[in-house]
Amino acid sequence: MIDVATLPKAELHLHIEGTLEPESIFEMAERNGVRLAYPSVGALRAEYAFSDLQSFLNLYYAGVTVLRTERDFHDMAVAYLRRASAQNVKHAEIFFDPQSHTSRGVPLETVVEGLWSALRESESHFGMTTKLIMCFLRDLSAASAMETLESALPYRDRIVAVGLDSAERQNPPSKFELVFDRARAEGFLTVAHAGEEGPPAYVWEALDILKVSRVDHGIRSLEDARLVDRLRRMKMPLTVCPLSNVRLHVVEGLAHHPLKAMLDLGLLATVNSDDPAYFGGYVNENYAESVRALALSDDDVVTLAKNGFHASFLDDAAKRRHLTAIDAVRALEVQPLAPAPPL
Ligand code: ADE
Ligand code: ZN
Repeated sequence: MIDVATLPKAELHLHIEGTLEPESIFEMAERNGVRLAYPSVGALRAEYAFSDLQSFLNLYYAGVTVLRTERDFHDMAVAYLRRASAQNVKHAEIFFDPQSHTSRGVPLETVVEGLWSALRESESHFGMTTKLIMCFLRDLSAASAMETLESALPYRDRIVAVGLDSAERQNPPSKFELVFDRARAEGFLTVAHAGEEGPPAYVWEALDILKVSRVDHGIRSLEDARLVDRLRRMKMPLTVCPLSNVRLHVVEGLAHHPLKAMLDLGLLATVNSDDPAYFGGYVNENYAESVRALALSDDDVVTLAKNGFHASFLDDAAKRRHLTAIDAVRALEVQPLAPAPPL
């Protein structure tokens, strides 16, 4: 059986604020004089039992309040890069939520400079390439998203795409039509969370109205056969996050997760960790636990790893290099043991 840890991987659905481990939350709270509602790391971790997306978001937004300075954003990103590179992640496209910081008086410049100071050295320090994706919080207004987009224009060379996250129910992609029109006109690619808790109709809107290059999650697409057909024919990538879906009760357990069905339907599914500090695993754990629960074959695992690079915003030459590297690992795995030479 192929060892997922040996495969080069891309991670395309990762909220950098969701990588803040409880220990870092306490460390940053201490150095920034932020009072936390929890007396200890253990007490905070004990709260990580979520009933749905909103119950998680409540804690996630409480966690980000410790991030105040460029150094905080830098340290958070470095900690993720260190962990991801140790798991053989070779490329990461990283979400950040500017409104969760600017609403607390932290300037966008602090956020972007802090993250960028870590990401610009990711290749030399960690052997990983990276890209940044700026997400709008869909439970806030379209006007707030537009204002955020305009304030990010000076950083457009550092941000490859805009995305849409936070509470999905009652906040359809169509609410952000004009913001995404403007973002595309300014040269940004677009992605959106859709079909995590929301209905297949939200995935249609993400495709038709926001003109996304990838759908984040998208697992509820399987409820609509016509949508599945459209996604397959478009080769639309879906950035699936199995452990997140289990922890947020979007599925009834990993054995019921649609990841295997998505592959069998010919969808371009990828495996990612979403908010690994909260959901019990980084990318390798997402792969390994899915392999166990869904009896994924070696071919499935290789397909998922390759899909990650196909679905990335890397150029074709870089994609080809990574795909060739996956083939090389696969070839080593399937090579029969050479017979021992005669004594
Ligand atoms: N923000 C951070 N993680 C998220 C998720 N899984 N869904 C929506 N918004 C998020
Ligand atoms: Zn997400």
